[in-house]
Amino acid sequence: MINGSKVLDHSIRWAMVGGGKGSQIGYIHRSAALRDNNFQLVAGAFDVNPERGIEFAKELGVAPDRAYPDYKTMFAEEKKRPDGIEAVSIATPNSLHYEVCRAALEAGLHVVCEKPLCFTSEQAEELVKLAEEKHRVVGVTYGYSGHQMIQQARQMIKNGDLGEIRVINMSFAFGGYYYKIEETNPAAKWRFDPKKAGPSFALGDVGTHPLFLIEAMIPDLQIRNLMCTKRSFVEGRELEDNAFVIMNLKGSEHVQDNAQVYCWASSINCGARHDHVVRIVGSKASIEWDDERPNQLLYEIEGQPRQVLERGYGYLYPAARLEDRIGGGHAEGLFEAWANLYRRFAIAMDHADHSEYIDFWYPDVKAGANGVKWIEKCVESADDGAKWVDFD
Ligand SMILES: NC(=O)c1ccc[n+]([C@@H]2O[C@H](COP(=O)([O-])OP(=O)(O)OC[C@H]3O[C@@H](n4cnc5c(N)ncnc54)[C@H](O)[C@@H]3O)[C@@H](O)[C@H]2O)c1
Repeated sequence: MINGSKVLDHSIRWAMVGGGKGSQIGYIHRSAALRDNNFQLVAGAFDVNPERGIEFAKELGVAPDRAYPDYKTMFAEEKKRPDGIEAVSIATPNSLHYEVCRAALEAGLHVVCEKPLCFTSEQAEELVKLAEEKHRVVGVTYGYSGHQMIQQARQMIKNGDLGEIRVINMSFAFGGYYYKIEETNPAAKWRFDPKKAGPSFALGDVGTHPLFLIEAMIPDLQIRNLMCTKRSFVEGRELEDNAFVIMNLKGSEHVQDNAQVYCWASSINCGARHDHVVRIVGSKASIEWDDERPNQLLYEIEGQPRQVLERGYGYLYPAARLEDRIGGGHAEGLFEAWANLYRRFAIAMDHADHSEYIDFWYPDVKAGANGVKWIEKCVESADDGAKWVDFD
């Protein structure tokens, strides 16, 4: 159980680029990083508007001389200090991820980067190589993967509880962008601008989440080929607000050859909240996880009553019980899932002992690169009339 136990013997000196006041995702980065005292927030370039960013830094308790107008100044100035930053999180619109991540690695910093990691596979490969050369960690915040029941699903699959995986049915299909929300909401506006968002909206913004969940649940998952169709239903959008993808998987220890995956990524699913659900169907049993009920995992064996496995109880695999923070029965949520990920990022950055985890992993730079490649292949397929495209 993790409840306040500190995993490092010091706190990593940490900064943020983006995640400014009013941003959607900045707060959860700070809540997660600071939860277990493995990070301390000492600097930041929080906002596209330097004055607003510096003002916000005060609210966050960052010393005035370490509230910077932009990330380049921050990296240069922090390098001169004996107590300069060791790690940085990037929570800006997508177009900045690549350049800030590259600059941070070149400055010798560890990175936590928002998804999608960058726009192209070439950029992603460059970041993978740079991280290796510099011996630095790049964690990618596929935050849902920090939920304990994702660990449980992973252990069940590894232990053969589902048999061979045959079918995966998954979605992240929310409804909030069913009208032209970008006319009034700045965070929606950049998401439909290819210069700021990249080559896709729905696939990159939400589709990559269930994609990484199945990568986390099935460590030997390999995509053979895929086909995608995408379009925008709301007029005037340059990027898709809805997409469907079908994938064939390569056979592996836990996956039947040509197992099939169906993914619906949408922002126009009127009336839905997230509709972020992953159902994995094996030859012996199925499991299903829904991010709106993250403490539960459905476990269904043909001919038997449906079981609802609950977070925090002794019947779960030990690797899933480890990240319990308050005991069974109490609800844990996305903030805890992110804190679990940040704890793993801290361990990786510090080369700390992680034997307590039994099965230690985190969404790394290669996972980020895989997400970028997936978006690229989906766009290639859709732009060519939903043609089947080889993944490798
Ligand atoms: N992992 C997840 O579950 C999740 C959820 C939501 C968003 N995201 C990702 O997080 C990122 C940010 O999304 P958001 O919804 O918070 O966006 P947002 O528009 O709400 O906030 C973006 C923030 O970045 C700042 N910013 C922009 N340019 C900057 C610059 N040059 N220097 C410093 N700061 C700058 C803005 O001032 C703002 O504070 C995106 O890449 C998005 O895909 C991830």
